[in-house]
Order: sequence, then C-alpha cells, then structure tokens
Amino acid sequence: MEFKSKDFTDAKRVLKIRGLTVGLAGRPKADPVLRGIDLDIRAGETHCLVGESGSGKSVTSLTAMGLLPKDALEIQGGSIDLEGIEITQAKPAQMRALRARRIAMIFQEPMTALNPVLRVGEQIEEVLNMHSDLSRAEAKARTIDMMEQVHLPDVERIYAAFPHQLSGGQRQRIMIAMALILDPDLLIADEPTTALDVTTQLQILKLISEMQERHGTAVLFITHDMGVVAEIADTVSVMQKGRIVESAPIRQLLTAPKEDYTRKLLQAVPNLDPRAPRAPAEARDVITVDGLEMTYGGGGFFRASQGVRAAQDVNFTIQPGRTLGIVGESGSGKSTVAR
Ligand SMILES: Nc1ncnc2c1ncn2[C@@H]1O[C@H](COP(=O)(O)OP(=O)(O)OP(=O)(O)O)[C@@H](O)[C@H]1O
Ligand SMILES: [Mg+2]
Repeated sequence: MEFKSKDFTDAKRVLKIRGLTVGLAGRPKADPVLRGIDLDIRAGETHCLVGESGSGKSVTSLTAMGLLPKDALEIQGGSIDLEGIEITQAKPAQMRALRARRIAMIFQEPMTALNPVLRVGEQIEEVLNMHSDLSRAEAKARTIDMMEQVHLPDVERIYAAFPHQLSGGQRQRIMIAMALILDPDLLIADEPTTALDVTTQLQILKLISEMQERHGTAVLFITHDMGVVAEIADTVSVMQKGRIVESAPIRQLLTAPKEDYTRKLLQAVPNLDPRAPRAPAEARDVITVDGLEMTYGGGGFFRASQGVRAAQDVNFTIQPGRTLGIVGESGSGKSTVAR
C-alpha cells in the first residue's frame, strides 16, 4: 500500500494546541476529560485523530471550534492558537466570525448541526449569504452545485427537504456541503463519512483533498476507520483516556508503532474473510417480509405528487440465530426497511 509522505515542516502552521486541559465545569477536583493535549496542523496537511470511544476526540475538536457546552465542560489550562488568534480567550462574536470563514466543522451527529425547521438547501445558502458577497441568485446556483459535488441525488427535491426527510447519509452530506462551501483554512471533520457507503465515502474524501490542493486547507480528521486513515492521513495522533499517547507520520505509525495501544488498534482492523456459515438454531422463520413497499409523502387525495418510493418489492426471511446483513448506497432504503 502507498502512503502519503509529504513533508510539512516548512508549511504555515494553521493550528497549534499546547497543554490543553478540559474538565467538568465547576468541578476542578474531578478527573479532567483532556489531560494536556499538544497538536500541530500545517496548511495542506491531513492530521487524523484516532482512539477508543470516549478518549476525547470530539471534545478536542469542539474546544478548537470554541463550541464546548459551557454548562458541562470548561478549559482548565493550555492554549489553542489558530493563525495567531488565541481561541481560549476569544470573545463569542470573534468566534462566530472565525467559524464558517476560517474554520469549519463537520459534526459527528448531523442532527445537532442542522436546523430542524429550515429547508436544507436554504441552510447551505444561508452560510453564503452571511459570509460572502454573492447575490441571492449566485448563492443559490453555488449551493446547487455544491450539493451535486457531494453526490446528493435528486438535488431539486433535496434542496427543498427538511432534515428529518433525508436519510442519515444524505444529512451527513448536507453538513459536508455547508462546511466546504467557503473553502475554510481549517476543516475539522468528526467521523464525517460513517453513515456513507464506500463509494460515496471515496467521493467525499476526494472532494476534501481537491479543496486541500486548491486552497491549502489543513484538515483534522477524526475516524475509527483505519482503512481511511491509511488512505488520507499525513500525520496520525492516537488518543487514549484524554491524552495523545503517540503522534507520527502515517508511514511510521503503521510500520513501526511505538505504543502497545497503537499496535492493538492496528490489529483490530477487520479483514474481509467471511466466517464459516452457521446453521439456523431452528428450522422456522422469525420474520418473513414479502413484497414490502414504502412511499414517503405524495399520496393525499388532491395532490398529484408522486412521493418518494423508498422501498419496492423487498423480500427476505430470517431464521432463529441467523444474522441478515443489508448493504447498499446511502439513501437506498436500508433504514426504511428496518423501521
Ligand atoms: N457534555 C459533556 N458533559 C460531560 N462530559 C462529557 C461531555 N461530552 C463529553 N464528555 C466526556 O468526555 C470524554 C470524551 O468524550 P468525547 O466525546 O470526546 O469522546 P470521543 O473520543 O469523541 O468518543 P467517540 O469515539 O465515541 O465519539 C468522555 O468521557 C465523555 O463522557
Ligand atoms: Mg466523538
């Protein structure tokens, strides 16, 4: 496998985090959530953050965005320098100006970032209207173009849809479009492609790397997928229990990891050998699905609209003790069938 091996030591440093300590708000004696994080990202570099669930990856990224939930978590020490601006001291108005224009974030949970009562197309467009000089018509055209670039299907319908009317992967791509549309200097992406099928995921990763080439964007990328890490990372930091336990260029990390914990992470990468087929526990069907159809919207006596056919002629059976896997591209109807 080929790894990236560019040297970034001469590139401009976009983000510099030193000794960052974050703890529970108002409880200085409790164990901190982040225990002295050091992290550097340079222009054009992709820095991957990996590590077990709960190790502090999301808290690190939220802190860098100035988005810690104030009633729950607080900065207890350290500094975050974003191109000369000290984020830990920045006023809320200054942070708002920085976000979107200089730093953008793709959140782990799209629903927390999207406004449930605004059409998703308008939400992307709003970012342009607030932070660029484009006319309304230009902003709309740019929005449609961006939605096509993140490979959303049926763009006119999705533009006018509310978040709850989209599939999980489609919502994730709306958020990606919002984050990329202003060419930020720093992009923080927290598990941005977990709800996407592998082909769409590849297209999104390609889109991010094109933006990096064009604009020199620095990317902080959080993922559990070591395959993605091997593909896109220049540098990797491994987190465990609120600390960065190892940080190294991708080739070094994969070929000569220093920490036992990093080795364990690498060994846990699944391979694609199927296991031996298991016989069902009993010869009967637990569930039989026969000719299942599901259409969203449309219907209604006086409306000629057709609605969205989310499932058509779906058939399967499952026997006791067996596992049925349903795979397919984002928006193909998997969650609809399960519901
Ligand atoms: N709002 C909050 N209030 C209190 N504790 C929190 C809050 N958010 C996160 N934490 C705690 O901070 C620690 C780090 O959480 P974080 O969300 O950063 O983990 P993570 O590495 O992103 O995990 P995952 O891979 O599951 O997303 C956890 O122990 C978590 O319980
Ligand atoms: Mg997280």
